[in-house]
Amino acid sequence: MTTTADPQGTPVHRDTGTSADIDTGTGYELPPPVSDPVLTEVDRGTPTGEMLRRYWHPFALASDAGSTPREVELLGEKLILYRDGRGRVGLLHARCCHRGTTLYYGRVERDGIRCCYHGWLFDHEGHTLDMPCEPEGGRHRDRHRQPWYPVVDYHGMLFTYMGPPGHRPPFPTYDVLDDPPPGHQITPNDDNIGLQDRTTPCNWFQTHENVMDPFHVFILHAAFSGNQFVPQMGALPEVSWHFTEFGVKSHQDRVLDDGRFFHRATEVLMPNVRIVASPFVDSTGKSDSVAWSVPINRTTTKIMTLLSRPAGRPLQRALHDGKRWEDLTPAEHQRFPGDYEA
Ligand code: FES
Ligand SMILES: [Fe+2]
Repeated sequence: MTTTADPQGTPVHRDTGTSADIDTGTGYELPPPVSDPVLTEVDRGTPTGEMLRRYWHPFALASDAGSTPREVELLGEKLILYRDGRGRVGLLHARCCHRGTTLYYGRVERDGIRCCYHGWLFDHEGHTLDMPCEPEGGRHRDRHRQPWYPVVDYHGMLFTYMGPPGHRPPFPTYDVLDDPPPGHQITPNDDNIGLQDRTTPCNWFQTHENVMDPFHVFILHAAFSGNQFVPQMGALPEVSWHFTEFGVKSHQDRVLDDGRFFHRATEVLMPNVRIVASPFVDSTGKSDSVAWSVPINRTTTKIMTLLSRPAGRPLQRALHDGKRWEDLTPAEHQRFPGDYEA
């Protein structure tokens, strides 16, 4: 008999019937699954949720904000995104501060979004501009504010800050995006098709730590599934890890078949920024992209990427047996797995 405890501390008893002549290690002895809520919970009031709320996060493309309200989920909060008739982007809590109707059914007007139920009109900072059922359009409308978040459009990607207003940090900028080589353009990667983007069904930390796992590139992206990038990435690298001022980086050094030395670095900046050198080995010098592991909620994550590339050059995609990931059949996903499947 073994006695363990489940995550709530309740004793779990098992009679494994173990004796010297019985082979063990079967699934029956598997301890109950556990998660680490300190890292994976992202709601307000949780340790990681509060930590992440001290940073700006991308959540959609600028082109996602239009005259039809769109649902957004970020850090476990349900929000509504729109762009008013003056071009201002609004990111408001989904539930109307009057009676809780979702603003998804609202109407976008010149000055803001109007709730479908009693017609309260809110601007992009949540101010109530009109209460049409009240005398004089609402004598006390300045007492009612729809919860809102600030939005910044950075190279066509929308970012917001969801933390305490008094701790809002300056908007971060990156030299590879703000000071690109002549002739380069900055765009969201086309893996980021905005709110339609595919999300990953795991917590943000699980996908984020993949950036510091350089050995899987040699196996998953080359030896196992065929070269998904370029042949040079298929050589087994010498790997070392280094702490930096803002996080951790790994160096991957390869000697190529033609004798050339290939040095590559990937880096994470705390808490959720990822700097991954192009796996297509088409540029030297600084990395040409900045990406974020964005927690949608505690079990769903989205990677959002801003990329610097020569204007007009098509975006490069990982190929699985010559096909793009979204074009694979279920059988091909099984035979040519990539990061998502792993
Ligand atoms: S519920 Fe939105 S105006 Fe009444
Ligand atoms: Fe990968």
